[in-house]
Amino acid sequence: MEQIQTKRIVLGISGGIAAYKCAELTRLLVNQGIQIQVAMTEAATHFITPTTMQALSGKPVYSNQWGEHTADHMAHISLSRATDAIIIAPATADFIAKLAHGLADDLLSTLCLARNCPLLLAPAMNKQMWENPATQRNIQQLVADGVTILGPVSGTQACGEEGMGRMQEPVELARAVVAFFQPKLLSGVKVLLTAGPTYEAIDAVRGMTNRSSGKMGYAIAQAALELGAEVTLISGPTALSSPHGAVLMNVTSAAEMFDLVKNHVADVNIFISVAAVADYRVAQPNKQKMKKSASGLTLELLPNPDILGYVTGLPKPPFCVGFAAESHNLHEYAATKRKTKKVPLLAANLVQQAIGADDNELVLFDDAGEHVLPRADKLTLARALLQHVIKLYRQGN
Ligand code: C5P
Repeated sequence: MEQIQTKRIVLGISGGIAAYKCAELTRLLVNQGIQIQVAMTEAATHFITPTTMQALSGKPVYSNQWGEHTADHMAHISLSRATDAIIIAPATADFIAKLAHGLADDLLSTLCLARNCPLLLAPAMNKQMWENPATQRNIQQLVADGVTILGPVSGTQACGEEGMGRMQEPVELARAVVAFFQPKLLSGVKVLLTAGPTYEAIDAVRGMTNRSSGKMGYAIAQAALELGAEVTLISGPTALSSPHGAVLMNVTSAAEMFDLVKNHVADVNIFISVAAVADYRVAQPNKQKMKKSASGLTLELLPNPDILGYVTGLPKPPFCVGFAAESHNLHEYAATKRKTKKVPLLAANLVQQAIGADDNELVLFDDAGEHVLPRADKLTLARALLQHVIKLYRQGN
């Protein structure tokens, strides 16, 4: 994991209504230890005040080429020299046009033209402006110039219209910034994940499931994307949105999850089985809602297929990672499970600490023994887990 805490970024804000989201974006980046220097166009100051941005970034905001922040009026040079990347969010149609044509008529555009660091843009505008051939030409030109374009996405727009042109949400942009700095250690590597619980129907409205939020599996998918992997995520029912860039396939039951894994495992390099698959399914689920009866109910349960067991049993299995959630005897059960599941790496956690929580603690079991990944938020843990996976995967390939 690249040390994101050492990074310095210029956040350039141009004048669009999405500018208000920059307050949240700044907070998210600063929370990760990234140093943010804000530079705004004059128009942007009408949408969000420099005072707000200064308070959140902890640094004076540059908005005027002729300001007093630098004695020699060379802010456009000094700012870009001391930075690892510039991100423009929101990037308006006008600002994009300026960048595509190399115009430099204010501090932010001059700073972009004078830069010697990567430039990322998060476009935000009305859908007609986005679809206008002029904007599309400008975007193509910028891509050809090596600029990274983040979004936009489709949705309801400030003007009330629906369509493409919304700025990506701050949480997505913050993730994209972190991902941008990661060495692409998994470039060309196909990663298949299962995540979340499975739901086994009893009748039309009732069912059995495992408690699982899916947060750990989705975090690993996110961390794999950051490292450049091609990620397919087969997920049971969760309340989470798909990590940007992953192929997400939603399933309900273990049988559906098993079918999709069988269909997609063929050319996969790494399989990470995070799903809390229900051990049993109802032998004959009732298609209609069953009526209550005072005499009780007996259900016949059949064992579900062991999805991870199927993958490890393939003639040429991918590198497999299993998960174990235990309520007690974590070390003993997990070490045994690694052997019975025949996985080179098993990640174990205590259910009472893990389920639904935003942070967790993992103990990794492999041929070399145990490795503790100390308590952290699930994305941080996922990144640490993948560093371990990459080490073992490379040893075997
Ligand atoms: O439920 P259990 O503790 O046995 O799960 C261990 C590992 O096996 C997990 O990685 C889980 O995703 C996987 N598993 C599976 N199919 C099942 C049960 C568990 O793939 N039917």
